[in-house]
Amino acid sequence: MDFSFLPQYYGFFIEGARVTLILSLFTVIFGVILGVLIALMRLSSIWPLKFFGSAYVEFIRGTPVLVQVYLFYYGLPMAGVEFPEVPFLGSNFPDMMAAILALSINSSAYVAEVFRAGIQAIDKGQMEAGRSLGLTHAMTMWNIILPQALRNILPALGNEFIVVIKESSIVSVIGIGELMYKADTIKGNTYQAFEPLIVVAIIYFIITFTLSKLLGVAERRMKTH
Ligand code: ARG
Repeated sequence: MDFSFLPQYYGFFIEGARVTLILSLFTVIFGVILGVLIALMRLSSIWPLKFFGSAYVEFIRGTPVLVQVYLFYYGLPMAGVEFPEVPFLGSNFPDMMAAILALSINSSAYVAEVFRAGIQAIDKGQMEAGRSLGLTHAMTMWNIILPQALRNILPALGNEFIVVIKESSIVSVIGIGELMYKADTIKGNTYQAFEPLIVVAIIYFIITFTLSKLLGVAERRMKTH
């Protein structure tokens, strides 16, 4: 194995890691917000909401994230949706938006199921108690059910965050300059396919392992309360 490309190309990996982290951060934020909404829809007693929530989860989970990424990439311009160029967020903001949208929507379906399971695991006496104290359904959900559910949900949610970081590698196919894409660029420049991938794998592992440790800390904190 020959890693002599590193002194010349280490900047590529740093830039790639930066874009991977930005992608994952936004995906996790939007994915959780959207996921909670979808979970609440699925649990709602209003049937159109319930139907939409279920159909959303089934459809998103039932189609590959690769197809979804391409659908957004080609579909957004066709629908006349245009984003301005913003230099800070990677090389190409409109493509970045397609990537973040596709990944967030994909992740939200999985997050929704995690939240649904977590909420359903809370004894229904909690909702009844809240309601009989005069709280509305929404207030009980937000102040009593969700905080308790969150503790049970955290391990599964952490797992989803790690999946998001790894799945973000798929958007290299639409030219987003994240880690995987950078490995390809270096391959093109040096004719070395194997070694850049080893470096990329190690960087992904460092990111996910750090996150996993941080989540472990958060979990223990929540247990002690
Ligand atoms: N690779 C699978 C797919 O193409 C998984 C998608 C993402 N999974 C997740 N938990 N966010 O559908």
